[in-house]
Amino acid sequence: MSELLIPFNRPSVEGRELELVQQSIANGHISGDGVFTKRANAMLEALIGAPKVLLTTSCTHALEMSAILLDLKEGDEVIVPAFTFVSSVNAFVLRGAKPVFADSRGDTLNIDETQIERLITPRTRAIVVVHYAGVGCDMDAISAIADKHGVAIVEDNAHGLFAKYRGRPLGSFGKLATQSFHETKNVNCGEGGALVINDAALIERAEIVREKGTNRSRFFRGQVDKYTWVDIGSSYLPSDMLAAYLVGQLEKADAIQAKRGAVWDRYATELAGWANEHGVRLPVVPPECEQSYHMFYVLFPTLEERQSMIAHLMSQGIMAVFHYLPLNTSEMGLQFGGKAGDCPVAESVSDRLLRLPFYNGMSRDEQSRVIEAIHAWRR
Ligand SMILES: Cc1ncc(COP(=O)(O)O)c(C=O)c1O
Repeated sequence: MSELLIPFNRPSVEGRELELVQQSIANGHISGDGVFTKRANAMLEALIGAPKVLLTTSCTHALEMSAILLDLKEGDEVIVPAFTFVSSVNAFVLRGAKPVFADSRGDTLNIDETQIERLITPRTRAIVVVHYAGVGCDMDAISAIADKHGVAIVEDNAHGLFAKYRGRPLGSFGKLATQSFHETKNVNCGEGGALVINDAALIERAEIVREKGTNRSRFFRGQVDKYTWVDIGSSYLPSDMLAAYLVGQLEKADAIQAKRGAVWDRYATELAGWANEHGVRLPVVPPECEQSYHMFYVLFPTLEERQSMIAHLMSQGIMAVFHYLPLNTSEMGLQFGGKAGDCPVAESVSDRLLRLPFYNGMSRDEQSRVIEAIHAWRR
């Protein structure tokens, strides 16, 4: 392996992040729910058009809060995509729910909406959708199924901040939605997330669950004169220092999205001929979707070709990675009745997908090296 010249991801300071972190320290309030947490919540509410957003320590934790807020219990079923990150499923399993795996669409790799209805049983309580690569799921079809059967939608929108479906922001469709500000995301604070609460009836309980099961938020607003243990919950508040960093990133959202859009468009344009020649598929963005420019992936015809490209790029000091291993065939998935062959699209895509280096500060030179290395690859 040669020296790593181009990482898969490189987080970058985009604006006033460091100044705002210093301000948070000068404020003398670096625990949760200080001025920067409130500012970040408000910025996200405006961006998504949601009645309430609460910053959390991660998207994983926001998903765990969703499972608590839906009152999931042993025996309940949750329909989940097989092709997703572990947390989109594990959060519900933690509450005792059984995951029921749905396959992906062949184009966007999102949950296949045509398969959802046959997976619904009297025990189904929720449908979890993941807007893969920040390209919206078919929310018209999925919302109609959820309404018809009276089940909740939870949007795992870890990839989809800034994206839209039929002009409406992702994260605004589900009863609850979750965001990630992990270092690999378009805007980040290292580790962080948010719970988006679109059903106003859940706001007060969400505040309690996030504050260790206490009514401390009401206490701080002067609505009760002491705070106490009123529900289950945990510690899901990030430090105000992290919120300050995130505000610095959010202030630069337009510039970040412009940079990412340019990187994405250049990959798409300059790899089109190569992809055609090698039977490689580039990402599909349906006309009703405005994507978030979260990632750029390519789909090889076979696992062998994907592995050969990873090794070739690594020999040039370029890091490209793959994900997700289908959850229906994971050790835990098998325990919940998943089996190989249940989700053929997810299982096949998992072997063939490769994510290319993609980050806000990717220079033209860096991207040229990646594109040239890809063109130079020989099977
Ligand atoms: C679809 C999806 N959901 C959830 C997560 C978890 O996010 P976090 O690291 O903020 O907990 C990820 C992580 O990348 C993800 O890709």
